[in-house]
Amino acid sequence: MHLFDVYSIQQINITKAKGSYVWDETGQKYLDMYGGHAVISIGHLHDHWQKALKDQLDKIAFYSNSIIIRLQEELAQKLGEVSGKEDYSLFLCNSGAEANENALKLASFHTGRKKVVTFTGAFHGRTSLAVAATDNPAIVAPVNYTGDIIRLPFNDEQALTEYFTKYGQEICAVIIEGIQGVGGIYEADASFLQTIRKLCDQYGSVYIADSVQCGYGRSGTFFAHDAAGVNADIYTMAKGMGNGFPVAGIAIAPKFEAKKGMLGTTFGGNHLACTAAVAVLDVIQQDNLIENAATLGQYIINRLQSYPEVKSVRGRGLMIGFEMNEPFTKTLKSDLLSKCNIFTGEAKNNTIRLLPSLALTRGEADQFFTSFESLIQTPS
Ligand SMILES: Cc1ncc(COP(=O)(O)O)c(C=O)c1O
Repeated sequence: MHLFDVYSIQQINITKAKGSYVWDETGQKYLDMYGGHAVISIGHLHDHWQKALKDQLDKIAFYSNSIIIRLQEELAQKLGEVSGKEDYSLFLCNSGAEANENALKLASFHTGRKKVVTFTGAFHGRTSLAVAATDNPAIVAPVNYTGDIIRLPFNDEQALTEYFTKYGQEICAVIIEGIQGVGGIYEADASFLQTIRKLCDQYGSVYIADSVQCGYGRSGTFFAHDAAGVNADIYTMAKGMGNGFPVAGIAIAPKFEAKKGMLGTTFGGNHLACTAAVAVLDVIQQDNLIENAATLGQYIINRLQSYPEVKSVRGRGLMIGFEMNEPFTKTLKSDLLSKCNIFTGEAKNNTIRLLPSLALTRGEADQFFTSFESLIQTPS
């Protein structure tokens, strides 16, 4: 059997990882400024995370949601504490798309409505409704299309208000990333998020904060939406939640009523997944990683802005996107990897995405800039 060939991959076989570094099979070391799509939140193979998982493996790895799983309660308690959403409830699942799918489903159960407002540039995942809400026709199969998804221009308060004025009573939910990731690192304006909150309250619609990429401290606040001073009705989480162990969830405001069987999953919330997620929150809390993301992110943003070769810089915390001027527009990302052994990510319009571990150090950030400067001094 062959692998189904859907990924564009680098010909690099990573066999070892620690903190902000990974090594390939030849022993070559790489600085990881991408964290495998923003997944590595506390650093590769963090000691506390690794030990917690190893210890748990000596006890039990999995049992389904038909028994008491105390670790789920511990995770919910800790997540409430660290995120500040203590009165929310937690439903656990396995991936970002699944989290969004469940959030949309719950919103529809709650309101009895179908219309979902989403925005240009959005990415919400690849399952049926999540992909329909995603602004990329290339990944939407005919079976995914639905007339119930309405795509409005991002950060356009007038268009949103007009749409609500016409159809507010039919709108089930508004789903929005606090900072668009795949779309190119574009922040939702605080006033836009406040308008969503106001309109959802006025019309009884559900505000879903897709925090799969921008959440879990990455932006310098626990949820990127927090910076706007609003509370969403549902937050969806995945990527950084398990530091590489697949775990996802939705944090649900108190107004939603749970009914037996309305949501469910076989694997979600298993013992190993919860162990990984609790360990991540322990480290985020103990090592002040949200603060680190805020200050180090600002340092990187300021430095990037100081180079005339950089055309634009966007983002917040350790969720940063930047574009280069010519002649570096198309070459810098690949040169960072091939000449300097630094992993970064990409997004639309040759945007380079930096999504390193929230435990990135100033020294590691400076290493990035030493390489960056060497590349802009000697264009390829
Ligand atoms: C904002 C956002 N939502 C949802 C998803 C989907 O997450 P997953 O790939 O875990 O299904 C992603 C993945 O990149 C994302 O960035």
